[in-house]
Amino acid sequence: MQRIIVTGGCGFIGANLCRHLVRGGASVLNIDKLTYAANPASLGDIAGSAAYRFAQADICDRAALERAFADFDPDAVMHLAAESHVDRSIDASGDFIQTNVVGTHALLEAARAHHARLAPARRDSFRFLHVSTDEVYGSLGADGLFTETTPFDPSSPYAASKAASDHLALAWQRTYGLPVIVSNCSNNYGPFQFPEKLIPLMIVNALDAQPLPVYGDGQNVRDWIHVEDHVRGLVAVLRGGRAGATYNIGARCERTNRQVVDTICALMDRLSPDGAPHARLVRFVADRPGHDRRYAIDPTRIESELGWRPAESFESGLEKTVRWYLDNEAWWAPLRAAARTRQGKTP
Ligand SMILES: NC(=O)c1ccc[n+]([C@@H]2O[C@H](COP(=O)([O-])OP(=O)(O)OC[C@H]3O[C@@H](n4cnc5c(N)ncnc54)[C@H](O)[C@@H]3O)[C@@H](O)[C@H]2O)c1
Repeated sequence: MQRIIVTGGCGFIGANLCRHLVRGGASVLNIDKLTYAANPASLGDIAGSAAYRFAQADICDRAALERAFADFDPDAVMHLAAESHVDRSIDASGDFIQTNVVGTHALLEAARAHHARLAPARRDSFRFLHVSTDEVYGSLGADGLFTETTPFDPSSPYAASKAASDHLALAWQRTYGLPVIVSNCSNNYGPFQFPEKLIPLMIVNALDAQPLPVYGDGQNVRDWIHVEDHVRGLVAVLRGGRAGATYNIGARCERTNRQVVDTICALMDRLSPDGAPHARLVRFVADRPGHDRRYAIDPTRIESELGWRPAESFESGLEKTVRWYLDNEAWWAPLRAAARTRQGKTP
């Protein structure tokens, strides 16, 4: 599996994945539309590699996908392209349905046509990894964990669009025999994440002495995983996962939003002490509609079947992440400025 199409490779997880794959010896074709969430600068250190190619295309554009499959002749697809921000999906859901549902359908169809043309040996080893989220499972109460058999119960337009695409992907395996695997992962953090998501938003706002908005009572629980652990999990699933199966990926790392923000403030007090104490910037704001209370992943299947384990603890991973944003203002400052211009407010 050396020739891999990655969709959404200019986004947060996709960029970390492309870098990991190319460094590991694979050839990658990154298909990305370059929405607001994309940043080709995240791929600077592999952009010149002979093993890396980029095609600017919309995954809804079936003809562009057909050309990409014919030219690149992949052994596998890792599908990450999506509209991914829950708050944006509440304000305007159309792009989420278009890219996450209609786009996934177009990609599945292009992959199916390609798979049918492969010689038998390559057809058997071909894989289509559909990358999804634990948000498809809805909200947990105080107890329990999401397993691969937890029924889907999405709350937001984003989660509903991802749930729809998960169903499509698995149906293409059952109906057409396309070797699809689905992964459902918990909340990622780490380098190259757009500064509208919780952790980078808190870091860059704290640096600018801007308010740190926390939804509701701050007691919503998320299960956090460092993006590099997720990327290693995706590669493990692609190489060893069973076609037709789902794998939950999570690092057994539950934190309330308040705990996350307090930890970031403490790290900022130590690493960028100018504005200390940064906790004075915390503001509780009106809760997000349909805000899920708690997510928590049971990763037993990927651990026991594929031997995957996270390498990063939340404390070590978060400190590295704060340091990365402090050291890479040139990466995030233009994104933040562009988002401000577009929305007339801080992202
Ligand atoms: N970020 C998380 O915590 C998390 C957790 C679990 C699963 N996921 C899933 O992982 C995937 C990647 O998430 P992310 O956080 O890196 O997202 P992101 O928003 O940072 O990046 C998405 C990328 O997809 C591209 N894209 C969007 N629409 C496209 C289209 N129509 N055609 C081609 N490219 C398009 C964008 O330009 C961007 O580069 C998504 O499918 C998401 O649902 C994310």
